[in-house]
Amino acid sequence: MTTPDTNIIAELDAQRPSTPPGLLSNNEKDLLIERAFLGLYRWYVSRSQQHRNWNPDTDFDWRSFRTDHSEKMNTVLEGFFAVEQFVPDYVFTLLKVIRRSHGRSHFHIRWGSEEEKHAELWENTLLFSRYRSPAWIADYKNRLRENQWELPWDCPIHMIMYTVIQERATQVNYLNTGLIASGKAQREGFNDVDPILEQAARVIAADEAAHYSFFLEGARLYLYYYPAKALDALYNVIKYFAMPAGDIIPDYDKFSEVVAKNGIYGPREHLKDVLSIALTHLGVSGRRALFRGIERTRQVPGLNGGTLDTGLFDVLDYEGVEKKVKKLFNRIEKYEQKIGFDLIDPTQFVPNQLIVTGGNG
Ligand SMILES: [Fe+2]
Ligand SMILES: [Fe+2]
Repeated sequence: MTTPDTNIIAELDAQRPSTPPGLLSNNEKDLLIERAFLGLYRWYVSRSQQHRNWNPDTDFDWRSFRTDHSEKMNTVLEGFFAVEQFVPDYVFTLLKVIRRSHGRSHFHIRWGSEEEKHAELWENTLLFSRYRSPAWIADYKNRLRENQWELPWDCPIHMIMYTVIQERATQVNYLNTGLIASGKAQREGFNDVDPILEQAARVIAADEAAHYSFFLEGARLYLYYYPAKALDALYNVIKYFAMPAGDIIPDYDKFSEVVAKNGIYGPREHLKDVLSIALTHLGVSGRRALFRGIERTRQVPGLNGGTLDTGLFDVLDYEGVEKKVKKLFNRIEKYEQKIGFDLIDPTQFVPNQLIVTGGNG
């Protein structure tokens, strides 16, 4: 019997890849995520230009806008205007964090260009309703911009989870306002049926829905390739979630009380129409299950993260997420075929193969 040469064993060990065979390295995962973001961004821009290329001045008959909206509705519109007013901060703070990603950073600039139209449109509602004078609005903008919005999370994965929830919440706000303006929803103290306001709310809500979809696809990419990290980020974001700029807008409490008490957006809508829907779309089996799952894994850390990996599949429909991610790659492939990118550098789906370590660690 020959004894193996220890030098050869050491040499073989040194050459062994750090990732088990068949498994994607972090670098490979990052490249796949980046390719998907880039493809999705290209698809998104072409669609956005075709379907949502509206203008906040010329596409609305502002001369016909009502000048007698209720005090409550005016408070709501002013609140929307204030939140959308921080678009420069929303863009450049996150841009610094994601600037290395072509797909994410270019999308973010496009997203900002759509958000800035929302600020313009809500400003027009304040102006044409005659609720606020041009001088008052100018002064208010100055007051708002004395404060700067800060990122709630300094991490790309946390921020994609944050934007999923925030875009959905914004969409719910605008949809419910549109229902009041259309007359389909009656609220005490509101007398605001107005086709122009209804159109404004509907057009912006469609943008927010498109933003939500983009961030949802992005969040699924992280849930698929980095499930443990992504679920942890989602848990943190949900636990500490607050709507953007609420802490730096004067009179925000008055606005949030009106929207909460009148079925536009309050704790009830947040749980039912925002979190529960977003979690279903993400393949997560509910807020309580997510919290229980994550908190349990934190209390009993397993060997090599075993407990975390096992506990993770109790709350995440991993197969469902995989199906959606494959569908996304498929959409990108079709787009690339339409343009001809596929002939030069096609985006291709590569499955993630997880090692599921079991038991209680
Ligand atoms: Fe917006
Ligand atoms: Fe948005």
